[in-house]
Amino acid sequence: MALFRPAARVAALPPNFWAGMDAEIRRLSAEPGAAFIDVSKGNPDRPTPEHIVAEMQRAVADRGNHRYPSHLARLSLREAIARRYREDHGVDVDPDEQVAVYHGSHEAIMAAVLALADPGTAVVLPDPGYPMYTAAASLAGARTVPVPLDAPAYQPDFAALDGVEQASVLLLNYPNNPTGALADAATFEAAVAWTERAGAAFVHDFAYSSLGFDGRRPLSALAVDAGFTRTVEAQTLSKTYSMAGWRVGFAAGNASIIAAMRRYQTDAFSTLFGASQEAAVAALDGDQAGARELVAVYERRRDSVVAGLRRLGWEVAAPQGTFFVWARVPGGGDALDFARRLREEQRVAVAPGDGFGSRGRGHLRIGLVADDAALHELIERLGAFTRRN
Ligand SMILES: Cc1ncc(COP(=O)(O)O)c(C=O)c1O
Repeated sequence: MALFRPAARVAALPPNFWAGMDAEIRRLSAEPGAAFIDVSKGNPDRPTPEHIVAEMQRAVADRGNHRYPSHLARLSLREAIARRYREDHGVDVDPDEQVAVYHGSHEAIMAAVLALADPGTAVVLPDPGYPMYTAAASLAGARTVPVPLDAPAYQPDFAALDGVEQASVLLLNYPNNPTGALADAATFEAAVAWTERAGAAFVHDFAYSSLGFDGRRPLSALAVDAGFTRTVEAQTLSKTYSMAGWRVGFAAGNASIIAAMRRYQTDAFSTLFGASQEAAVAALDGDQAGARELVAVYERRRDSVVAGLRRLGWEVAAPQGTFFVWARVPGGGDALDFARRLREEQRVAVAPGDGFGSRGRGHLRIGLVADDAALHELIERLGAFTRRN
């Protein structure tokens, strides 16, 4: 049997930081002992609202959906996306020219980077930031340039990019994973101004578009770059409607970027199951009470986890959005070591910040993706761990 070596573009991918940790979590959770608590991921634990499930069940039985749908996705779905943009963010997008549909925002961001970044060009990424951005830039053969997000506000420090004269893409993400920060208009104005100078496109990852706390609605970058002069924005149904496994996301904004992304999409990913598209319309056009309740659930979890950590003496700010708590390792220790010992000694998995870039070092990310009882137990075990160490 011949043994094949991966193509250079696959061999050059950055090592997947999470793969080794995941294998260890699987091994530890299979061992006898107390229930393993895994809050290291952003995998929503709540069920998808019933009316969306019911629509999927109906649509799966419809033989019309057993055939190939169009590569561009149904107009009905692109129109539902446009309606939600108008209602939630006061932004008008043209469903014909300014919207593209993907199997999640992961795929939308991948398509944006691969459609825009030529080999050797600079792709500017937030540090700390969501790890797949680096992989997307690597697949494009582009260079990555970090833009620092520093505490306490975690907004991009464009002054740190002084030596960078040209770039193909600037990628930002608010509400921000991993820090939980929201952006204000000034951040997006500065992003658009910077991309103008550098000749870059602005790709905004708006995966947590519905998850703002304390009554704050996260700001769309398309509401700030109102003419879509340089901006495209990726959204997902994964978080807003707890549909992470369903794989539906979309991008909207600058028509020339969307055209390039659609070109890429047609050949790279083909198309999305028609029944998923109909269920997505039900999610976007249906009652939004479930999406609002979800914000209240995560906010309540945030309050109890932040209060619990502070009782233990941890230095932690309450996140303004997403469903992550970002905290310094108590006592200033090493995050990788802390997280490994916590897994082994307390059967609790949190994400060490090192996986999000150099500015993540010394931090831990806790996902609010477990029920109240598990989060209460999490605080108990963290207390026992810090007392012993
Ligand atoms: C910041 C960010 N962007 C994008 C994604 C991808 O989500 P999906 O592909 O499910 O839309 C995630 C998922 O965790 C995320 O945290």
